[in-house]
Amino acid sequence: MSSGWTVFITVFTLANIAGVTWLLWWMRRRRGEPTGAEVETTGHVWDDDLRELNNPLPRWWLGLFLITVIFGLVYLALYPGLGNFGGLLGWSQIDQYRRQSEQAEAVIARTLAPFESRSVTELVEDPAARHIGRKLYLNNCATCHGSDARGAPGFPNLADDDWLWGGTPEIVYETIANGRTGVMMGWRQVLGDSGVEDVLAYVLSLSGRKVPAGDPALGARKFQELCAACHGQDGRGNPQLGAPNLTDDVWLHGGSVAAIRKTIADGRQGEMPAHLERLGELRVKLLAAYVLGLGTEAGAEARTAAHVGTSR
Ligand code: HEC
Ligand code: HEC
Repeated sequence: MSSGWTVFITVFTLANIAGVTWLLWWMRRRRGEPTGAEVETTGHVWDDDLRELNNPLPRWWLGLFLITVIFGLVYLALYPGLGNFGGLLGWSQIDQYRRQSEQAEAVIARTLAPFESRSVTELVEDPAARHIGRKLYLNNCATCHGSDARGAPGFPNLADDDWLWGGTPEIVYETIANGRTGVMMGWRQVLGDSGVEDVLAYVLSLSGRKVPAGDPALGARKFQELCAACHGQDGRGNPQLGAPNLTDDVWLHGGSVAAIRKTIADGRQGEMPAHLERLGELRVKLLAAYVLGLGTEAGAEARTAAHVGTSR
């Protein structure tokens, strides 16, 4: 703030306070004792007999005003308020913010310290680590992968045992730290519409499904020629490229015939952003532990469900 503004604000503020004080003093002087029956009125009359009285303010009321004036002056002396004058206490909101964030950082550092030098594998076994991982997950990942981590079309389910890029502790850490980009180009140009139908028929046959149109035998030949390089000759995918397994019933971009046709014809692209720079190594490890913990719990759940299913 320039010193011109400081002078203006200081003079303006203090003049206001002086004005108010003078007003209070003037009111007090005017305040005579009530002189019996005749009370002064403002002369306003409503409904023939409703008059507006002009009684002076009671003394205690004026006293309250005076206290606010004194409070204001003391406040302006102690705290910043008059332009650039910082106040006698030397308090500033920036200092307070800094102190409070340092305290918060210290608390976080204390909370995270026990996990500092441990590997992802160790952290997966520790419920306290997974608990912190869950909080980090909800803040950083839930917008894309869902608060239950079960994903959505285009965003993989992290709670199952099926992995695009691989599910070892090292790989999951790597995925979260540096991000991943899965790119599958569209094939309509190369295959033509009927070619897309043939390959679609073959891809669906891999997971035991049938479509009315398309020749799966023709599609199989095209698949070996164009797709096997990434998805493997048997269609089981390639975690190094993030190419999904096409023989199971887990579909990243939706498992309807229309969705799979669109994937083959127009291509798809999935981008998992990198988090190492923003979150640091320890938090990424805790996140990996949380995600891996989900896999095992969900796996156990699924296995129990399958068991219940067969025993029925
Ligand atoms: C360059 C490697 C590459 C080639 C070649 C390729 N794909 Fe893909 N494909 C991928 C990747 C990577 C993904 C996952 C895209 C993503 O991450 O969003 C994918 C996704 C898919 C999906 C969706 C799977 C799901 O779970 O939703 C289908 C279906 C598919 N590909 C079929 C094919 C067919 C059919 C061909 C051949 C005509 C083919 N791909 C050729 C890399 C490839
Ligand atoms: C902007 C959306 C977005 C955010 C935020 C995001 N992800 Fe992802 N994530 C994706 C997409 C899309 C993919 C799939 C990439 C592909 O197509 O191969 C993915 C893939 C993954 C995978 C690999 C899954 C597999 O099957 O191999 C993991 C693990 C993962 N994310 C964890 C996380 C974690 C943990 C966070 C939070 C720190 C996070 N993601 C935040 C979009 C996101």
